[in-house]
Amino acid sequence: MSEPLDPERDRLSARIGRVAQVGANMGGAAAAYAAARLTGGDDARIAKAIRDALGKSKGPLMKVAQLVATIPELLPDAYADEFRKLQSHAPAMGWPFVDRRMRTELGADWKKKFEFFEQEAAHAASLGQVHRAITKAGDEVACKLQYPDMASAVEADIGQLKTLLNLFKTMDNTIDSSEAIEEVSERLREELDYAREANHMRLFGAMLADAPAHVPVPQADLCTKRLITMTWLSGRGLLHYIDADQETRNRIAALLFTVWWGPMTRYAVIHGDPHLGNYSFTDDAAALNLLDFGCVRIFPPRFVEGVVLLQRSLKSGDRDGVAHAFEIWGFKSLTNELIDALSIWARFIYAPLIDDRVRTIADGVKPAEYGRREVSEVRRRLKTLGPVLIPREFVFMDRAALGLGAAFLHLKAELNFAQMFEESVGAFDVDALAARQSAALADAGL
Ligand SMILES: Nc1ncnc2c1ncn2[C@@H]1O[C@H](COP(=O)(O)OP(=O)(O)O)[C@@H](O)[C@H]1O
Ligand SMILES: [Mg+2]
Repeated sequence: MSEPLDPERDRLSARIGRVAQVGANMGGAAAAYAAARLTGGDDARIAKAIRDALGKSKGPLMKVAQLVATIPELLPDAYADEFRKLQSHAPAMGWPFVDRRMRTELGADWKKKFEFFEQEAAHAASLGQVHRAITKAGDEVACKLQYPDMASAVEADIGQLKTLLNLFKTMDNTIDSSEAIEEVSERLREELDYAREANHMRLFGAMLADAPAHVPVPQADLCTKRLITMTWLSGRGLLHYIDADQETRNRIAALLFTVWWGPMTRYAVIHGDPHLGNYSFTDDAAALNLLDFGCVRIFPPRFVEGVVLLQRSLKSGDRDGVAHAFEIWGFKSLTNELIDALSIWARFIYAPLIDDRVRTIADGVKPAEYGRREVSEVRRRLKTLGPVLIPREFVFMDRAALGLGAAFLHLKAELNFAQMFEESVGAFDVDALAARQSAALADAGL
């Protein structure tokens, strides 16, 4: 290739080089771990060494590490705490580079397709960056433009992820995360395909058409596999409302509930990344803006049947129903002891959904303590029963449940979550759901 020298390009290859470097550092962390094991070193120190190694990555690995940190089953506490401290610092593409990328996506005359295009990025994205622009028709849009060569960076990250989780497996043999790794890898690879993401966006637009929610509309003629041009949505983040009055905080929590569980209970589809940057609220908090459809999980309809059966069986104390639900979820070799261990976790996650009254999520438990006892009790039991294979469907379901739970905790929302769940599920009919899902997917081009 006879590309002219380009400082941005150099920076990018340096960045990709750094991803490779993280690999070397991870090897170092693994060695540090082995040494610490022999000499009796502690988890916290190893965790810090791994975070330092990861901190050198400027790529999507950061996002993966943060994501993995939010799935408590996958990592011991000391590690999850360190990983949550990771921040993404991807270097921005400068204007000459953006110009060239846009030419590649939309052609040499791409500027003629916009009334205005802001040269400086408005936001960083994990695989690219977001620019504000105005179309010829006068619509304000967001252009999410992907960096080049991200496929290889993502593959490198998936390799790192596997190394990392295998490291934990040798350390703590309670969890078999092999399916979970496949699940996360599959979503990461999907995230490269912005054409698919635009279709996810269409799908959510349709599923939430009657909900108090706004979903960006992709503009097909300005979208490619590496560029999404969509309506610009402005709003305020969750943290803005953290000190609002109780009624407003409740309203926001109810919006989150509707937007996340509506598509799940009616279409078996979930937005797998309930990160603070991925949604906002219109000024009066009357509606939620939902963003970022890079990590969307479309479940087999039967999985939702398992979710509903688990809620109903926990509520009525039907042990066989609970066991059957775990089977549907995909847990294998279910002994009575394993069912009991898994039930501790299930009862914890589902507690607000089976307790038919107005309550907070934590219901008096201090946020810092929340879930700790349950996690450590399950881990303790799995030490003798494990390793338990985490079914792949569990990963993003759990991630969404915990992400939303954390938002409800922050908001100190007081709601009857059980009643909201019942209303969302309605008279559950798996065949009706399957028909609804396939029609919606076909309409969205999925
Ligand atoms: N349609 C939009 N309107 C306004 N801002 C947007 C829009 N889409 C994305 N953004 C902003 O850009 C950021 C990154 O986009 P996002 O789709 O979340 O990328 P990533 O998949 O890398 O997280 C978001 O957190 C948000 O601040
Ligand atoms: Mg995002």
